[in-house]
Amino acid sequence: MEGKVVIVTGANAGIGLETARQLYAKGAHVIVACRSQQRAESAIQNIKSTTKSNGKLEFIPLALDSFTSVHDFAGRFKQKRLPLHVLVCNAGLNSYSVPPDQQRTTEGFDFMWQVNYLSHFLLTQLLLEDLKKSAPSRIVNLSSVMHRIGNPDFARHEADKSSSKKVSGSYNDSKLAMALISYEMQERLAGDNITVHACNPGAVNSEIWRATLKTGPLSPLFATIKRSIMLKPAQGCTPSVSAASDPQLGDRRTRYINPYWHPAGGNIAKQQPVKAFKCFGLVPFVCQLFDALSTFGGPTEATPTKAARDMVNAKRLYELSEREKHEQEESWFTSEAFQIWK
Ligand SMILES: NC(=O)c1ccc[n+]([C@@H]2O[C@H](COP(=O)([O-])OP(=O)(O)OC[C@H]3O[C@@H](n4cnc5c(N)ncnc54)[C@H](OP(=O)(O)O)[C@@H]3O)[C@@H](O)[C@H]2O)c1
Repeated sequence: MEGKVVIVTGANAGIGLETARQLYAKGAHVIVACRSQQRAESAIQNIKSTTKSNGKLEFIPLALDSFTSVHDFAGRFKQKRLPLHVLVCNAGLNSYSVPPDQQRTTEGFDFMWQVNYLSHFLLTQLLLEDLKKSAPSRIVNLSSVMHRIGNPDFARHEADKSSSKKVSGSYNDSKLAMALISYEMQERLAGDNITVHACNPGAVNSEIWRATLKTGPLSPLFATIKRSIMLKPAQGCTPSVSAASDPQLGDRRTRYINPYWHPAGGNIAKQQPVKAFKCFGLVPFVCQLFDALSTFGGPTEATPTKAARDMVNAKRLYELSEREKHEQEESWFTSEAFQIWK
C-alpha cells in the first residue's frame, strides 16, 4: 500500500481504528476521517506508538450526521490535491448510541440511516472523480449480519422528514443498503476500474456496544459475552483490510467478506462457494449460527441474502439516494457554509 491514499471513516475506534492501523502498517497514507479532533489525534498517537511504517496519518474532520460536514470534508480533501485509492466507509452506530432526544438529524433523516448509509453514499459520490482519476481504486462498505433482517422498502426513510421519531429497524436497513449499494455501484463503476466490496466484520467487541445493556440484570452476562465470544477489533478489521488491499480482490467483482469461514461462502483465495452446504435446507440457520458465534478463521467470501443482491431494488436505492444527494447539493450551494468555502 506504499504510495496509496486511503480514507477510513470512524478511524478513531473499534474496527476503523484497527483498519487504519493495518493499512498504515502496510505503508498507506491514511486519512483519519472522524467527528472528534481529540479522539482522532489520540488514535493517531496510538497507531504511531505501536506501528512502524513509512506511511502517513492525517486527520480531516467528518461528522456523518450532517451533510454540510460531508461536503466540508470532501472540499478539504480535494484542497490537498492527493490521489484517492481506497475509501473505507466504516463509521457507524447502533440504536443504543443515538441520543434519545436526537432520533433525527438536522436534515430530517433517521439519525442512524443518515450516519450509517446516506452520508456514506453522499461522500462516495463527492469523491468519485478522485477515485476514478486514481484507478485502479476501491470502495469498501461496512455491512453486517443484521442486513439479513433489513427492510428493503427504503422509501420509508424519505417519507416523513418532518417527524421527530426514529424509523424502526433503521440499523438493519442501513446495513442492507450498504451491501446492496455495493453491487449497484460495482455495475456502474466497473468501466472506471473501481472495485466495490461489502464487509461483515462479525460480532466485534468494539465501542459500538458502549451504551448497550450498560445497566440492568443482563449487563454482567452481556459483558461476559463481549469478552469471551466476540471478535477483537483487530480480527473484525480483516475483511476491510483485505477488501482494501488484497491484490486478488481488485478485479471489479463485488464480494461480501466475512472475517471467518462461513458455510454459505468460500475461501477468498479459491473464490468458490462451498456448494455442498447448499444441499441442505439448513443454510439460513447454519449461517445465523456461524454469524452469531463468529468462529475466527481469516477473511472469507460469503453470500449475503437475496435481498442484498436484488438488482432491481439496488437500482431503486441508488436512484433514491441520488435524489437525496441532488436535494442536499441544492441546499449546500445556497448555504452559508458554501459561501465561506468559495
Ligand atoms: N462491532 C460489531 O459487532 C459490528 C458488527 C457488524 C457491523 N459493524 C459495523 O462496523 C462499523 C464500525 O463499527 P465498530 O464496531 O468499530 O464501532 P465503534 O467502535 O463504535 O466505532 C464507530 C466509529 O464510527 C464513528 N461515528 C459514530 N457516529 C458518527 C458520526 N455521526 N459521524 C462520524 N463518525 C461517527 C465513531 O466515532 P466516535 O468515537 O466519535 O463516536 C467511531 O469512530 C460500523 O459501520 C458498524 O455498523 C460492527
